Amino acid sequence: MELQELKAQALAGLEQTADLEGLEAWRVRFLGRKGPLSQFLRSISSLPLEERRLQGESANRVKSSLQDAWQSRRESLRLAQVSTSQSGADISLPGRPMPLGRLHPITQTFRDICAAFQSLGFEVVEGPEVEWDYYNFEALNIPPGHAARDMFSTFWVDYTDDKGGHPMLLRTHTSPMQVRVMEKTEPPVRVVVPGQVFRYEATDATHEAVFHQVEGLAVDENITLADLKGTLYEVARLLFGEDRKARFRCTYFPFVEPGVDMAIDCAMCRGEGCRVCSGTGWLEILGAGMVHPNVLSRVGYDTQRYTGFAFGLGVERIAMLRHGIDDIRLFFQNDLRFLRQFR
Ligand code: PHE
Repeated sequence: MELQELKAQALAGLEQTADLEGLEAWRVRFLGRKGPLSQFLRSISSLPLEERRLQGESANRVKSSLQDAWQSRRESLRLAQVSTSQSGADISLPGRPMPLGRLHPITQTFRDICAAFQSLGFEVVEGPEVEWDYYNFEALNIPPGHAARDMFSTFWVDYTDDKGGHPMLLRTHTSPMQVRVMEKTEPPVRVVVPGQVFRYEATDATHEAVFHQVEGLAVDENITLADLKGTLYEVARLLFGEDRKARFRCTYFPFVEPGVDMAIDCAMCRGEGCRVCSGTGWLEILGAGMVHPNVLSRVGYDTQRYTGFAFGLGVERIAMLRHGIDDIRLFFQNDLRFLRQFR
């Protein structure tokens, strides 16, 4: 048979193969040892040298083009077979992209704040969100009826326990954990407490009813206000950069004496005064002070021997300052266009 005719016939036959078995039969028939090509190649050995070379070359060319055709036919038959396999899954479809999650900016800020304090030797602990009046107020030097309760608009919890109904509430700050930690530990104490807190207040650009704080407490011999300032300066530098300025001013919290608030220079206007810092150039980020002796003695600490400092830091405030966000409500609207911007 003429080589080109053989090739045409073989390729036409290949088109007809419907599955891998049919393909194997085709391969045996056209490319096998007893097939026409092998026979042809064997038969030319008796031809004169020059003739043999020419015939051999064209037979080999036909052979290798049939082999190529066989290979690509095998690929498409195999693909067709798996893609219509019993499960009906088409594995030849490109994969769907995996959506990558990320941490909420408040969670990221929590972690950065805690890491900064951990680098200074503080331990991280957590406490309950539903709290006794005792820990949230009384043990912090705020007895029932004290005017300082007005600082904390409170969500009360309608619950009466069997020991006579101690009032419960959603904690208005993380400070109750100061007392819980001291009840369980002897000095030295160095803890930070990340947590969610609740205030019965209307929301606006800088207030949410549910927000987050990181409490801090250090109690030991010879702790002074200088330790408080040094610690908080260092953390401000870790969180906001080396050249950040800090300002401390006296203020009142019943559970510290003296009490201070700390502000850093506004990153938006670099201290010149803008909308974010309401023209002052400073942004308050935390309340702090030396732990009041009444608080220390209530948990049985020797106030002659031990002193301590405490602070409560607003996490949203810090996140807003770091990212230049001017409305606290954006954090809690679950708008992915907003949330996807962070890290
Ligand atoms: N708990 C106070 C608040 O929520 C902050 C604070 C904590 C102040 C510790 C002094 C010491 O406003």
